[in-house]
Formats: sequence, structure tokens, C-alpha cells
Amino acid sequence: MKLKLGILVSGNGSNLQAIIDAIEQGLLDAKIEVVISNNPEAYALRRCEKHGINYVILKHEDYTSREEFDRAMVSIMQHYEVELVVMAGFMRILTPEFIRAFPLRIMNIHPALLPSFPGLHGQKKAFDYGVKFSGCTVHFADEGVDTGPIIIQAVVPVYPDDTVDTLAARILKEEHRIYPQAIQWFAEGRLEVKGRKVFLRDGGSPAPGVLINPPLTMF
Ligand code: GAR
Repeated sequence: MKLKLGILVSGNGSNLQAIIDAIEQGLLDAKIEVVISNNPEAYALRRCEKHGINYVILKHEDYTSREEFDRAMVSIMQHYEVELVVMAGFMRILTPEFIRAFPLRIMNIHPALLPSFPGLHGQKKAFDYGVKFSGCTVHFADEGVDTGPIIIQAVVPVYPDDTVDTLAARILKEEHRIYPQAIQWFAEGRLEVKGRKVFLRDGGSPAPGVLINPPLTMF
């Protein structure tokens, strides 16, 4: 049985594309039942058209409250019997009501190593702070902002000649690898959540090595 996905987007949708590609390549055992965008101009919707994926535009301005907007999203997700909600560059905070409708069944991707630099512009916040490594995080959404249990993270180095854009591009490339992977693990029923911690069943050997940046020069 394919895992039924409902995907939330607001913009370019390159993460959506990575999920579509992984499905089309037979790497991800899932079906995108519906994509919801709060932005009618989102390029993600062109991607849906190109790949024959069903989408719904819900303009948040048309709703009198955040709760009412989220209730409309919940009904659509329920209508399509969505098993996992995937936030893919969805630039709105979900209400507790939405989160409670899908306990531990909402994933989000964030372009920083959480819990550092949550919220908007994670890449820029990390770059401006002067970190030597940044990266991206896939986590289950809870009622906080980017605070839910972490499933997988990718670490990327920051180089002296980086700009925010070169760093963001390096991070995005890894987002496109870790997000389909996290969803596939969910589809396989391999993610076990114990409190804040997510364990991967039969995960093989742990991540190797220590990363140091800049590299040591005295040893
Ligand atoms: C991605 O970098 C994603 O991590 C980020 O928005 C971008 C969406 O790109 N999400 C957030 O910042 C959420 N706080 P995409 O539309 O090309 O997938």
C-alpha cells in the first residue's frame, strides 16, 4: 500500500519536486493525494500540473481566522484520507487544532540545524551568526515553531567566500535528499517516537566521523 501524502506549499516547491522525483523513480513508496497552496502564484502548482497532481488553492485572506483556514485544510486532508501531511516550504504556522488532527503525522523541513535558527530565514540567521556548519532538519511538527521531534539532519560546511545564497543552495541540495528519505522511513513504519526522540528501526551503522571546520592545522 502506498502512503497517502498531503503536501502543503507556498512557493517554489523544489522540495515537492524532490518528493515527486523520488516517487517517479520508485524510491519512495507514496502517492501525493493532494497539494494545498495558500499562494495562488506558487510555482509549486505548475509542478503539480506538469505531473498530473491534484491541487487546491486556499487563500488565507479568504478566511476570517487562522482556525477557520486550518479547519478547511483539515477537511481536505481528511477527504483524501491523507496519512502523512508534508510541509514543503509552507510559510504559515499551523494552529494547535490542525496539529492535533494529525498527531505525529505532520513533517516539516527547516533550512537550519534545529534547535538553532528556527522561524523564517534560517539560512540567513545562521550565516549572519557566523556558524562554521549549518544544514537542514526534518522533524515532526508539534504545537511550537520548529520544535518537534527531529527525524534526520544534514550538516553542510560554511566556507569563507560563501554568501547567503551559496549557503542556501548547498543546504537546499541536502533538503532534497533527506526529505524523501524521512518520508520513506515513515512509509516503511520504521520511525519510532519516544518523547522528543525519534529512533530509526534497523538503521544500520551510525553516522561516521567528526566534522571540524576550518580543518585542524596543528595535528
Ligand atoms: C526550503 O528551504 C525550506 O526548508 C524552507 O523554505 C524553502 C522552500 O523551498 N522552509 C522554511 O523556511 C520553513 N520555515 P521550496 O518551496 O523550493 O521547497
